[in-house]
Amino acid sequence: MRTDIASQPLTIFRKDYIAPGFWVDTVEMGFDLDPIATHVATRMTMRRNHDSSEKNLVLFGETIKLLQLRMNGVNLKKSAYSIADGKLTILNAPDVVTLEIETVIAAGKNTSMSGLYVSNGNFFTQCEAEGFRKITYYPDRPDVMGTFTIMLRGDKKKYPVLLSNGNLIAEGDLGDGRHYATWEDPFKKPSYLFALVAGKLVCQEEKYKLKSGRKVLLQVWVEAGNLDKTQHAMDSLKNSIRWDEERFGLELDLDRFMIVATSDFNMGAMENKGLNIFNTKYVLANPSIATDVDYAGIESVVGHEYFHNWTGNRVTCRDWFQLSLKEGLTVFRDQEFSADLVGTETGRAVKRIEDVRVLRQVQFSEDAGPMAHPVRPDSFVEINNFYTVTIYEKGAEVVRMYYTLLGHDGFRKGMDLYFKRHDGQAVACDDFRAAMADSSGHDLAQFERWYSQAGTPRVKAETSYDADAKIYQITLSQTCPDTPGQSKKLPFHIPVAIGLLGADGKDLKLQLEGQTTTSNNTLVLELTAESQTFRFTGITQKPTPSILRNFSAPVVLEYAYTDEELGHLLANDSDPFNRWEAGQRLATRRLVKLTNAVQKGEELELDAMFIEALRATLNDTTLDPSFREVVLTLPSEAMIAEEFAVVDPQSIHTARQFVRASLAQHLKSDLLSAYENNLTPGKYSPDAVSAAKRGLKNVALAYLLAWPDDATFMLAKTQFDEAQNMTDRLAALSGLSNFSGSAKNTKAAAQSLQKFYKDFKNEALVIDKWFMLQASAYTCDVAKVRELMKHSAFTLSNPNRARSLIFNFCNANPARFHAADGSGYALWAELVIALNKLNPQVAARLARSLDRWKKYPQNLQAHMKAALQKVAETKKLSKDVLEVVSKALA
Ligand code: PHE
Ligand code: ZN
Repeated sequence: MRTDIASQPLTIFRKDYIAPGFWVDTVEMGFDLDPIATHVATRMTMRRNHDSSEKNLVLFGETIKLLQLRMNGVNLKKSAYSIADGKLTILNAPDVVTLEIETVIAAGKNTSMSGLYVSNGNFFTQCEAEGFRKITYYPDRPDVMGTFTIMLRGDKKKYPVLLSNGNLIAEGDLGDGRHYATWEDPFKKPSYLFALVAGKLVCQEEKYKLKSGRKVLLQVWVEAGNLDKTQHAMDSLKNSIRWDEERFGLELDLDRFMIVATSDFNMGAMENKGLNIFNTKYVLANPSIATDVDYAGIESVVGHEYFHNWTGNRVTCRDWFQLSLKEGLTVFRDQEFSADLVGTETGRAVKRIEDVRVLRQVQFSEDAGPMAHPVRPDSFVEINNFYTVTIYEKGAEVVRMYYTLLGHDGFRKGMDLYFKRHDGQAVACDDFRAAMADSSGHDLAQFERWYSQAGTPRVKAETSYDADAKIYQITLSQTCPDTPGQSKKLPFHIPVAIGLLGADGKDLKLQLEGQTTTSNNTLVLELTAESQTFRFTGITQKPTPSILRNFSAPVVLEYAYTDEELGHLLANDSDPFNRWEAGQRLATRRLVKLTNAVQKGEELELDAMFIEALRATLNDTTLDPSFREVVLTLPSEAMIAEEFAVVDPQSIHTARQFVRASLAQHLKSDLLSAYENNLTPGKYSPDAVSAAKRGLKNVALAYLLAWPDDATFMLAKTQFDEAQNMTDRLAALSGLSNFSGSAKNTKAAAQSLQKFYKDFKNEALVIDKWFMLQASAYTCDVAKVRELMKHSAFTLSNPNRARSLIFNFCNANPARFHAADGSGYALWAELVIALNKLNPQVAARLARSLDRWKKYPQNLQAHMKAALQKVAETKKLSKDVLEVVSKALA
């Protein structure tokens, strides 16, 4: 254990928030770009905040060299200020201050991808959350907002393109081979939204007319050679602009909006004002390199960053504990954007299903582990560790619950009031809730607990039917497990959307006892107490309840459904989400039972009821292919693991494979027809209809390969060889690389993998797929990962590449990662330690892979604990990694 107390990082608490001692009005900066030593001259005007208890002028700075510090025209003596722990404090500053600061940055050596850094010879910045302090000393906190004017100077040949936020107001030659560009952002902003980009880049651009008639310039900047991959991002940007005008009445407020792609990026993308910087993964696409999933991902991330312009930038966060104010809301907005673009009711439901899958698989797991935290955390050590599925995805669920409670128009009114009150301000989650409550008159006081209490609530439903009185009664009770630092949770305000199905599968008319509102299909019950009973009147037959329709709250619903009831819901529910859910419940039940059977060495068997239910769905051509695809997809191994108190990854894998093989065997001809009937010949288009067909076809193919013969192998091989797009090619290759058939076929599969590499070796994003596919295949064990790490195309220093091989192995290949000898964990520890030196943020993400170690059998636990301890005892551990592993070990 660590003994050097001094190096223990500080926990920061929400309750300690103090308003800044000084505000910033204007910021002017000059950059002389040079990878070895970039000189930055900053001049800012500041004034005292008389309402703050902080009397000193406090600036933050890290990893930079301070050359000069002048206050109101005078060089500051060393005695006039102090620098300690990344804080520069000026004592006795006057009320009105002009500060001039000169700093130097070694951007070329910055491997953290935070602050100013170099990628492929080009300069980029990443300032959220606290990267601006690696550029200059500054009150780097989101509630300090100023207007920025930026002058960039650099070598014309090396850095022909010079970009920053806002509008280009001047550019020109400086002689001696250098040039400059001056950018002015008319909107005041916190420093985390600052950005600059400089280097050799090219762009696709377009003039776009807003609804108001104003014309704006849209640009997508990429490295030379990638201009054939920018159209989809441009289309997505235009769709985003139009959608925000139509759905929320929000217009683009700048004359120019730029997207820049870089292959070295820690996250998906960043919403810097007017200059969004993106991971190439979320920009570059054409049919030969990107899959349908990639196309959808680009659309949603482009939307997400664009929507931040209002939810995040125009109205920003008071402090980082309020992160979900912008992230939860913006994820909700991008989810709605994607759903609206698909348009159909089933399309919306499938999008909802996909989002809920992520929530359950990743967020529910986070909520049950050592890093569990509320949507608005009370404390953190390193803010970068709190860009989590809880802040983002659960935060979006919380926003969605307002939408469910207030309705479409009610929610819009709340949004309008939010902007009316807070445009130009840095605010808190409570302010958003107040806007929703005040605009609707709905009492949302108790709703606050969604922000303050961590953990996934469990809602238990019990029902009874009184045929004589024609009353159907449902009792809902809620509990929430303890989480680190929080026990004895108080009841949440939970919207529970419910419908009742008759024997004919149709919705019954709903009338709650003593209430006037009725519905022909769904009613939203508001569960606010620990337990509440709701009585429906005029119910003439015992119904099948469809509870938590469209997943109306982020909870676990327990109800003792019979298989027959689930079959009835799967076949008939008018709510497509719950229709799917019924199928998942049927599957989960069987997967759990079979996992237990594997452990006991019993014979495995899959019942006819389940097989026939899936057959009926597969063959029901009135159902959208995308819906059939999600019903056919079994819960992942990670989802199944959540059902167990003690997780045995190997048995789960065996059971799931058994179910896949049995289904393939019994549904073989149905799967073949589904395959044949959903071909999409002709030119590739990523539209929802053709993507859905490819999705169903490729799920059918994956099943067929789970019970393979030479003919199905040839089907996959042919699809791989003749594919006209990456979706089909990758799906076929994935099937082949998971293949366990004859030696001859296995060899042919390996050759396909090699051919894929050769054909795409110059496309980094495709090579990421090549690593990813192998890392997550059951055929890939620890030794194979080590071998792949030696491949010339592998590097730990590129986050996308590290994720493609290492993260996929540790997170998406549980049966191999959790090898009984602990070799997976040893590899994990080695790599967390190696990444810690290069890129603490990425290292800390990988560190999270062992969060749930206490859920595994004793022998695995011992190996995991040893690996965690090995990391914890490493010298020079970043705050990022230290926080994660010490919480895991606590
Ligand atoms: N704010 C970014 C987003 O959600 C994510 C991000 C956070 C990117 C921190 C980089 C660093 O869109
Ligand atoms: Zn975001």
